[in-house]
Amino acid sequence: MNNIIDILIDEIDKGLKYSTQNYQLNKRDYPAKDIEDSNLTELEKHHSAGLMRVNHAGEVCAQALYRGQALTAQLNGVKEKMNEAASEELDHLAWCNKRLEELDQKPSVLNPLWYGMSFALGAVAGLAGDKWSLGFVEETEEQVVKHLDGHMQNVSSNDNKTKAIMKQMREDEEAHALAAQEAGAAELPAEIKEVMSTVAKIMTSTSYQI
Ligand SMILES: [Fe+2]
Ligand SMILES: [Fe+2]
Repeated sequence: MNNIIDILIDEIDKGLKYSTQNYQLNKRDYPAKDIEDSNLTELEKHHSAGLMRVNHAGEVCAQALYRGQALTAQLNGVKEKMNEAASEELDHLAWCNKRLEELDQKPSVLNPLWYGMSFALGAVAGLAGDKWSLGFVEETEEQVVKHLDGHMQNVSSNDNKTKAIMKQMREDEEAHALAAQEAGAAELPAEIKEVMSTVAKIMTSTSYQI
């Protein structure tokens, strides 16, 4: 019992840290570190910050999803791979935080809500069995890649810093989807994919604003 309480306290602590604090302890270099900040107009800055806030909220969800999954899934033989992906998501979280800070903007105030929801989804997917939980990861990562493609086309062509961050994240997310697939992910039913994409739409449209 004590053990469960310890785990819960630790998870709540991490959830609060990732969703409310300016997390910046990244292991890999900031992809925009050698890029000069261009003279963006206020409008361009505002748009970049909106997109980065969406990406940041996505990374908060990714962290919650991987942690929820790790709590309940067996992940026989692929734990290491999944932990590696989760650690790259922490890099992404830190990079998004840093870019938002450079643009003088804050992450979404709704992040704790997204974290809680994604953690619960990850844990439920983990209970459903490894192939389903990996299927959930694969589908999530694929949807994130599509979002990033849209963002890269949509962001001001002058904002080379934001573009460099998105490009590296896209590369990583694609590798995460592949890792889940190779680890034995099952293809989710179309209805579930549809629900996931609807939830993602709500998350992205609100996080762009607040
Ligand atoms: Fe990510
Ligand atoms: Fe990812």
